[in-house]
Amino acid sequence: MKRLKLLALSGSLRQHSLNTMALAALVMLAPDGVDIVFGDIASLPLFNPDLEGHWLPAVEKLSSSLQQSDGLIIASPEYAHGMSGPMKNALDWLVGSIDFPAMPVMLINTSPRASHAQDALKEILTTMSADLIPTSFVSVPLLGANIDVEGIVATPQLAAALKQGVANFCQHLENKAAIENNALRF
Ligand SMILES: Cc1cc2nc3c(=O)[nH]c(=O)nc-3n(C[C@H](O)[C@H](O)[C@H](O)COP(=O)(O)O)c2cc1C
Repeated sequence: MKRLKLLALSGSLRQHSLNTMALAALVMLAPDGVDIVFGDIASLPLFNPDLEGHWLPAVEKLSSSLQQSDGLIIASPEYAHGMSGPMKNALDWLVGSIDFPAMPVMLINTSPRASHAQDALKEILTTMSADLIPTSFVSVPLLGANIDVEGIVATPQLAAALKQGVANFCQHLENKAAIENNALRF
């Protein structure tokens, strides 16, 4: 079985972001043979269709990270009942990517009460023809928990939820690869 490469995007630019921490915890909790690479959305310029097709290093880097990935993991906060601006900006840059359609996506919600942003995210990702994998979605109550990455990994309920989510995601990716390999043989 080949190694799986997953691209992780946090929708928060905050230094002590709970969403970024959840993704960092996932790196420790992922099955063997899985590489989780963090994408940089903070360096992206504001989306402007006039700039599409121009050489923009941050956009090129994100697009090439996506192209090299078997799946995408997004953890993104809710602000004023909407999704984070940086994440929407990143997704707008990726709308034109030929690698986005059918890209398997796992979602992490670090605040179960934040349903507006998650619903918006799902709607946008569906519109972009992503392959949402609901069995991998994880909702963990980190908001107000005063916790760090090591604390997340050391808390059985949090670690179990994240571990199960990423395991389900990887299982889905392996099943998909097996089906594609079989199809190639015939
Ligand atoms: C300006 C602002 C608006 C927010 N609005 C909401 C909201 O509408 N719903 C909600 O559940 N949380 C809201 N929050 C809480 C954030 O989603 C929460 O602090 C989250 O942990 C931020 O993500 P981060 O820790 O990854 O930076 C808001 C926070 C800020 C700073």
